[in-house]
Amino acid sequence: MNDSMNVTKPHPRKIMEYQTLFLVLSCLFPLIIYALTNWRRRNSRLPPGPNGFPIIGNLLEFGDKPHQSLAILSKRYGPLMSLKLGSNTTIVISSPDITKEFFNTHDVAFLNRSAPKAIQLGDFHKYSIVWMEAGDQWRKLRRMTKEYMFSVQQLDASEVLRREKVQELVNHVDQCCTNGKALNVGASAFTTSLNILSNFMFSIDLAKYGPKSTQQFQDLVLQGMQAGAKPGLPDLFPILHSLDPLGLIWSEDVYGKKMLAIFDKIINDRLKTRSDGVSTRSNDVLDLLLDQHSSFTQNDMRHLFLTLFMAGTDTTSSTLEWAMSELIRNPEKMKNARLDVDKLMQNKNNGSIQESDISQLTYIQAVIKETMRLHPPAPFLIPRQAVHDVFVQGFIVPKNAQILCNVWAMGRDPNIWSDPIMFMPERFLDVKIDYKGQDFELIPFGAGRRMCPGLNLANRMLHVILASLIHKFDWKVAGDTRSQDIDMGEKYGITLQKAEPLMVIPMKL
Ligand code: HEM
Repeated sequence: MNDSMNVTKPHPRKIMEYQTLFLVLSCLFPLIIYALTNWRRRNSRLPPGPNGFPIIGNLLEFGDKPHQSLAILSKRYGPLMSLKLGSNTTIVISSPDITKEFFNTHDVAFLNRSAPKAIQLGDFHKYSIVWMEAGDQWRKLRRMTKEYMFSVQQLDASEVLRREKVQELVNHVDQCCTNGKALNVGASAFTTSLNILSNFMFSIDLAKYGPKSTQQFQDLVLQGMQAGAKPGLPDLFPILHSLDPLGLIWSEDVYGKKMLAIFDKIINDRLKTRSDGVSTRSNDVLDLLLDQHSSFTQNDMRHLFLTLFMAGTDTTSSTLEWAMSELIRNPEKMKNARLDVDKLMQNKNNGSIQESDISQLTYIQAVIKETMRLHPPAPFLIPRQAVHDVFVQGFIVPKNAQILCNVWAMGRDPNIWSDPIMFMPERFLDVKIDYKGQDFELIPFGAGRRMCPGLNLANRMLHVILASLIHKFDWKVAGDTRSQDIDMGEKYGITLQKAEPLMVIPMKL
């Protein structure tokens, strides 16, 4: 007799019961994982934070403007908050006291950064001062930037070339006046910052005002930054690293490599003229680095150039665009700012504003601080990473956690600032708050050993460019928009941009 005939068939009701049980269990499975995930969080002494979903964690809560979403969440969970971004633990800080604990008390434990996968593909994290581990090479590069590149002597010695580049911007605005053409403030400031940097580094203009077709290098810098800013899936789920489903990593790598090739050519040309003995010294950064050739390889140099362009152009130009937008929509503040510059210029025979004048431009200084308070170019600074487990305020910040310091939220916190949403440069006139890393309520350049080494250069560029633009010209918004209705919406990227570029018609004063 066939064995199978001996097997008693289950009763149809039993089959239905199994099916129902299977259905119930499959519905419960995600709930069980969800409960387990959040039970682990509650018992792990992590800082408080919203419950996350399995696999994606709190990804949905980030939205397209994470600095704003996290500011709202931190009102509920407090200034030290933890979230899961995919499989990564992220710690969000939103108060000056706690920031001080991270960047002062525990500075060494948070000296490293978590490099996005897009950066890692081209090995940029191994060679770029921004992303490399805080080891010997990083210390060597920091010392070089501090003692040579951005030292007061080097900056004073290179002032003339910056003045020339600011004059070129003024000439460009002048032409717009003559032709009645609107000026894209952010794009023009970007060209100026880029040329200031390229001349500072190797005495060459790499950018041009005018039609897009002439702006190849500018485009490379911008596209490279945009590709690096996209949150890649592989960042959230390291397992996807090798797959790179959307090609996000790849695009960053392409732009980076194109820029490195340009720097290679510049370095090789300089080496050749030096070996031919025909070079007159430019005393720019490239000369300085080549003089110390034994300490810096060509690979070190080209990565340094790449990093400085990425870190120093968009940050500066977007600050200028926000400052101009705030002044144009607040005519009273514009009047005060212009008075400040006029007062200075009345006492000077020389027609241009110099960097040594900045100390006298107290209202302009307040305008820049107020702009950085409301519109910090890096709303989370550049995320750091915990080197090991650290206890802060009784909570554990686990090894490898990513640290986001929400300076945007702190700048708008009513517990720190009165009328926080108002643009009031006056608030800085009688107080000694500065953004040099000591006053933790205002740290757009970061703080501690890893804070921005380009601060002094940025400071000089921002004040002189802004003062020159408002001293020589009056400004009218292009189109029918009234100045008080300028769109101040934000676009989140590697820097916090204006969603709508500021387009204005300059008029000679
Ligand atoms: C408005 C202008 C600028 C702003 C707001 C800004 C902001 C920042 C911030 C927030 C950081 C991270 C600091 C931290 O982790 O504590 C940083 C790092 C850095 N910045 Fe700037 N920056 C500006 C301009 C510049 C310029 C002009 C340069 C150079 C040309 C520059 C070069 C760098 C470099 C190389 C780093 C990485 C330092 C390191 O990791 O050791 N920045 N910047």
